[in-house]
Amino acid sequence: MSDRFSLLILPGDGIGPEVMAEVRKVIAWFGKRRGLLFDVDEDLVGGAAYDAHGTPLSDATMARAQSVDAVLLGAVGGPAYDNLDFAVKPERGLLRLRKEMDLYANLRPAQCFDALADFSSLKREVVAGLDILIVRELTSGIYFGEPRGIHSDDNNPDNEGGRVGINTQRYTSGEIRRVARSAFELARKRKNRVCSMEKANVMESGILWREEVQWVHDNEYPDVELSHMYADNGAMQLVRRPSQFDVIVTDNLFGDILSDAAAMLTGSLGMLPSASLGAPMANGRPKALYEPVHGSAPDIAGQGRANPIACILSFAMALRYSFDRGEDADLLERAVEKVLADGVRTADLMAADGGTPVGTSEMGDHIVAALDQLG
Ligand code: NAD
Ligand code: IPM
Ligand code: MN
Repeated sequence: MSDRFSLLILPGDGIGPEVMAEVRKVIAWFGKRRGLLFDVDEDLVGGAAYDAHGTPLSDATMARAQSVDAVLLGAVGGPAYDNLDFAVKPERGLLRLRKEMDLYANLRPAQCFDALADFSSLKREVVAGLDILIVRELTSGIYFGEPRGIHSDDNNPDNEGGRVGINTQRYTSGEIRRVARSAFELARKRKNRVCSMEKANVMESGILWREEVQWVHDNEYPDVELSHMYADNGAMQLVRRPSQFDVIVTDNLFGDILSDAAAMLTGSLGMLPSASLGAPMANGRPKALYEPVHGSAPDIAGQGRANPIACILSFAMALRYSFDRGEDADLLERAVEKVLADGVRTADLMAADGGTPVGTSEMGDHIVAALDQLG
């Protein structure tokens, strides 16, 4: 496999460009010091694309995303765009990327770095050493199901306001089986346990989900330990005793919510990276998009206070899953760990009386300095 990789960077909105600037420093370091040649292109997504082109993702950008080895995305959205027509909202740009690249497996690892165990909103003994992986289905379910929309409900005189809003939870067996396979494959490289979450007690799509995950297990991965849990109980168990989990596989909407909850186990939403993977391309690498789990954080955008670690760790995932550079990914994760162990903190990782936080750019510089020391 060649060591030349094409990357499309889509910084997006709010803190997206701020955290992405720090990832660029890290990319440059790996280029200079580890001989990885990156052809880096940059383009617009979300509100930034809407401002320039009147659409949150142009066809030209979509085509570029389809043709590169990996896409790195910052974040999209913000209050300036909240009242736009639904079809051109910033979030639609991200959803189009996920759908058209067919990125069905969204890997959201939640690891608690030891240096942050006291900072989590849960007790140290509950989160110390935590290492779980949420595999969220990303291309189907209620995010994309038809029918959908807001309609007038004129024939129903009892409906005060006269409108109805509709979204449809829809899953095919094939969609469930392929994401289940991703979860089982990943579990085999970890602690070999998968917990599948749905609401089979109230939803037919949940019954299908449970049956198909079980089918994939029984026919293809009988060596992996499989359990099932209702997603509401899963949310409770995640904060009660998160260490009971290894890999969690769940649908698009439950995965969105459960992964934000898991973020707080690690100390901050600013810590959680993600990889969205599709089927392998002709070169054997999966279609891939890497992005932090957090959003554009309008409340702190433009202040240089955002934590860039989630975005930097997303690049580590790119090294691991797109570029087959596991050792370099480990190195970058160790650099982050070292900086945190040295007590360097952005504001989101500090108690109110915890001392002086560093800014976004300083945090990036510290991580590059740690790479220099460890690499
Ligand atoms: P958010 O993740 O942007 O922010 C939630 C809270 O976490 C805020 O208080 C924010 O300051 C804090 N936070 C998030 N990332 C941080 C970081 N790196 N460092 C420090 N603090 C951080 O979620 P929200 O406020 O619900 O949404 C804001 C906008 O972002 C909305 O338009 C939403 O649709 C969008 N959004 C986009 C993505 C994405 O692009 N993948 C994900 C979630 C939300
Ligand atoms: C996420 C976000 C997105 C989602 C939005 C911005 C479309 O919350 O990536 O978690 O709901 O999937
Ligand atoms: Mn989310």
